[in-house]
Amino acid sequence: MSHILVINSSASGDTSVSRTLVGDIVRGLVEAHPEVRLTCRDVDEEGIPHLSAATVAGVRAVAATEAELATRALSDELIAELQAADIVVIGAPMYNFSIPSSLRAWFDHVLRPRVTFAYGAAGPQGLLTGKRAIVVESRGGLYSEGPGKASDFQEPYLRQLLGFIGIVDVTFIHAEKIGFGAEARELALTGARVQIAQAVASLAMSPA
Ligand SMILES: Cc1cc2nc3c(=O)[nH]c(=O)nc-3n(C[C@H](O)[C@H](O)[C@H](O)COP(=O)(O)O)c2cc1C
Repeated sequence: MSHILVINSSASGDTSVSRTLVGDIVRGLVEAHPEVRLTCRDVDEEGIPHLSAATVAGVRAVAATEAELATRALSDELIAELQAADIVVIGAPMYNFSIPSSLRAWFDHVLRPRVTFAYGAAGPQGLLTGKRAIVVESRGGLYSEGPGKASDFQEPYLRQLLGFIGIVDVTFIHAEKIGFGAEARELALTGARVQIAQAVASLAMSPA
């Protein structure tokens, strides 16, 4: 393990559950591998622009205008960070049953044809292979079991987005029922930290 890319996307600043847990993961990995290089992206604070008619060609076609070239430059930078990473740690709160639009804008910049995915005879092929990801999913309600499960458009979507670009080794950390009061929130944090300890131990032991 030589390089970790950390992506935070919560709009709740210092009170964010996902940011707190992402911090725990990073501390654990750095303790196990003090030499590791960290690259951090805060897509909430930085505000990755949403693609528009003026900019979409910068990612999906040939960049020509100033706006398209600027989009291409940002897409290049974000993809280079992803290509360099062995492990990607993502803080992904559930917003309206899915992910924050800031995180979606980041994915819109890194899913680029012929660079991070390609279509071949066998269909789509992810080009960012050999990487692992840990994704913290913080949620106001309960979605990992019970009736809420059918409304979880967060985890299947993240699994699909990451898998589509070749990142198939993904560990999801759940912090659920955050909206159920202080006690439930503490329980969720404690439970998530148990999951994190296991995930970090397994990553720290692995030679990659
Ligand atoms: C804009 C917005 C939309 C949300 N939508 C949902 C939702 O659909 N389902 C849910 O269970 N919680 C929802 N929540 C609650 C968050 O998932 C919960 O507060 C979680 O802790 C946010 O992660 P964070 O603490 O890292 O910001 C929403 C919160 C916000 C701010």
